[in-house]
Amino acid sequence: MTRVAVSARLPVFPWDRLEPYKSAAAGHPDGIVDLSVGTPVDPVPEPVRRALAAAADSPGYPTVWGTPRLREAILGWCGRRTGARGLDHANVLPVIGSKELVAGLPAQLGIGPGEKVAYPVPAYPTYEVGALLAGAEPVPYRTGPGGPEPTGLENVPGLRLLWLNSPSNPTGRVLGVPELRAVVAWARERGVLVVSDECYLELGWEAEPVSVLHPEVCGGSAEGLVAVHSLSKRSNLAGYRAAFLAGDAAVLGELLAVRKHAGFMLPAPVQAAMVAALEDDAHAEEQRERYAARRAVLREALLGQGFSLRHSEASLYLWATRGEPCWETVGGLSKQGILVAPGEFYGPGGEEFVRVALTATDERIAAAVRRLAA
Ligand SMILES: Cc1ncc(COP(=O)(O)O)c(C=O)c1O
Repeated sequence: MTRVAVSARLPVFPWDRLEPYKSAAAGHPDGIVDLSVGTPVDPVPEPVRRALAAAADSPGYPTVWGTPRLREAILGWCGRRTGARGLDHANVLPVIGSKELVAGLPAQLGIGPGEKVAYPVPAYPTYEVGALLAGAEPVPYRTGPGGPEPTGLENVPGLRLLWLNSPSNPTGRVLGVPELRAVVAWARERGVLVVSDECYLELGWEAEPVSVLHPEVCGGSAEGLVAVHSLSKRSNLAGYRAAFLAGDAAVLGELLAVRKHAGFMLPAPVQAAMVAALEDDAHAEEQRERYAARRAVLREALLGQGFSLRHSEASLYLWATRGEPCWETVGGLSKQGILVAPGEFYGPGGEEFVRVALTATDERIAAAVRRLAA
C-alpha cells in the first residue's frame, strides 16, 4: 500500500509564490518595506521581559492547565476586556500560541471523517488546515451583511464546529452584536460548537469589536462557545507563543484531558511572562497607539493612490483593492519597493484585494507613505 503524505492533504503553502515580488521589492535603493506578514516588530514590553527572566530557573515540568496565577490573570483580562461574567478556572486554558490550537482543535475534539468544520471566507488559512489535518471536511461560509445566519450553511449535516473571526484577518471586518447573537443562536439550536478567534479584539479602530463571551451575545452563558485569544499582537509576544482559550467548561475540560496526554505545555517562564502581560493594560494601549498612527498615514496614502478599502475597521490589516487582479497590485507595489499579501491567499473573495499589514516600524511605514505619494 502506498502511503499518502499528510502534507498532500493540505493546500499548497502559498508564500513561496510571493518570493519573486519580494526580490523585486528588495531591489529598491532604500530597501524593501515588507507589509506582507503580520509579525510584530516593536519591543517586548519591559515588565514582560522582567517576568520572563525572573522565572528562568524553572527546572520542573509546567502543567498544561497553567499555574493558578496564570488562570487568574486570564480571568481578570477576560472580565475587563470581553465583559464575560461568571467564568472560573474551568473556563480557561492556555495554549502554545493560537495557531497551534487552530490547526489542532478539530482533531483534539475528535472531529473526523464524515464530519464538517465551517470557516468564514476570506480567512486565515489555518481554519481549513485544522479540518484537513483531522480528516474532516472544511466548509467555507459567508456571513452576509446583516444576514441573520451564516449563509450557505442552512443544511449542513455533520457540522460540528463553526469558526468565527472578528475582527477578521484578512479583511479587518468586525461582526456586531446582532450578527454574533444570530450565529450563536443558530449554532446552539443545531448543537454546533462555535469557536471564535478573537486575537485582534483590542485592535478596533472604526468599530468596537465584541467578544462572543459578552453577555449581550451569549446571554450570560458560555455553553457551546469558546473564544481564542493571543498575546502575539496585543503584547508583541509572537516570539513567546502565548495564547489562551476561554469558554465552555465541558469543551475546555475535554481539551485539557487530551492535551495533558500530548504534553501541550507552555514553558513556565512564558507562563510567568503571560501573567505580567495580562495584568498590564498600559503597554497594550501604547502599542495600540503605535498601530493607530501607522494605520492613519498608510490609509491616507493608499486612498491617495487610487485604492479603495473594504472593511478594515479593525485588526492589523488594510484590505485594499484597485479593482484589478491581486497579483497585478502586488506586482505594481513591489516595483515601488513595497511588499503586500495577495488576497487570493485567503480564499474566495480575495481575488481583487491585497492585505496591507500595519506591522512595520514607523521608519518603514514612513518610507511606504513617501513611495506611494511619489
Ligand atoms: C486570525 C488569526 N488567528 C490566529 C493567529 C495566530 O496567532 P498566534 O499563533 O501568534 O497566537 C493569527 C496570526 O496572524 C491570526 O491572524
